Amino acid sequence: MARDRLCVVVTRRLPEQVEARMKDLFDVRLAPDDGPMDRDVLADAMQSADILVPTLTDRIDAALLAGAGDRLKLIANYGAGVDHIDVATARQRGILVSNTPDVLTEDTADMGIALMLAVLRRMTEGMAKMQDGVWEGWAPDALLGTRLAGKRLGILGMGRIGQAVARRARAFGMEVHYHNRRRLHAGLEEPLEATYHDRLDAMVTLADVISVNCPHTPSTFHLLNARRLKLMKPTAVIVNTSRGEVIDENALTRMLRAGELAGAGLDVYERGQGVNPRLRELPNVVLLPHMGSATREARVEMGEKVLINIQTFADGHRPPDLVVPAML
Ligand code: DGY
Repeated sequence: MARDRLCVVVTRRLPEQVEARMKDLFDVRLAPDDGPMDRDVLADAMQSADILVPTLTDRIDAALLAGAGDRLKLIANYGAGVDHIDVATARQRGILVSNTPDVLTEDTADMGIALMLAVLRRMTEGMAKMQDGVWEGWAPDALLGTRLAGKRLGILGMGRIGQAVARRARAFGMEVHYHNRRRLHAGLEEPLEATYHDRLDAMVTLADVISVNCPHTPSTFHLLNARRLKLMKPTAVIVNTSRGEVIDENALTRMLRAGELAGAGLDVYERGQGVNPRLRELPNVVLLPHMGSATREARVEMGEKVLINIQTFADGHRPPDLVVPAML
């Protein structure tokens, strides 16, 4: 396929240098303004494009894919998670899907640790005192939190990001436990001194901190449901930088309100921006607006990955970051 004839549609504004490179390489249609693309506009784009570059704010379901034009051959997602794309249907229709793994691993892991510290060390409560000008000075019992060192961290999903969280957690003196579809090989597990649990219930029961790092798929939806959340110690906290759908948010909210869990640090929510308003009222909950990978470096590197995936495809090869349904 001749690269110069490829029509690439990008649904959101991307970093300037990424857009400039896209313009150099392809017949590209860039988003005029930033904001989630309207579904009708997206449907039109999928009619005429050879390659679509969406983000997680575009829901590319079976109905949209059914209306895609014959030219559409690659969905080069700007992002690692692909739960907004019906990958299996795309595959059936001969449309490849690629993503941008690796480049947001370290930043997302940093945010996981930041959330643990923020919740356990009560940072937002301290900050509120300073901002409200109501600090009464140092006191032996003021804003006492909990230390990370010596605590058991249970990582749900030990892929790239889970392992990056584990490395950081070791540096903080935490004990690493994990649950994953498959056990890591010894070469990865041993340096982390990580304990594998093939039963999630067992890990949830012993953890002081749970970090959610698995993708959202049909088999991980509500993996942390009301029954499992109730297995957690009342002193435990939960951190989620992956996808909100992995936790039953209403059950979590009820338990936090009832004091059956000590706290939560959340960067993602079950209903996207529709955060349960009751979560916002809780002092032991730190809420962030899905910013785990939000560094300038990651955003540019994500764009570079998209470019490589498109170029490799245009040169007649398999994109390096191809997502196949069996991986999900
Ligand atoms: C991703 O790439 O899926 C991230 O969630 C975006 O921050």
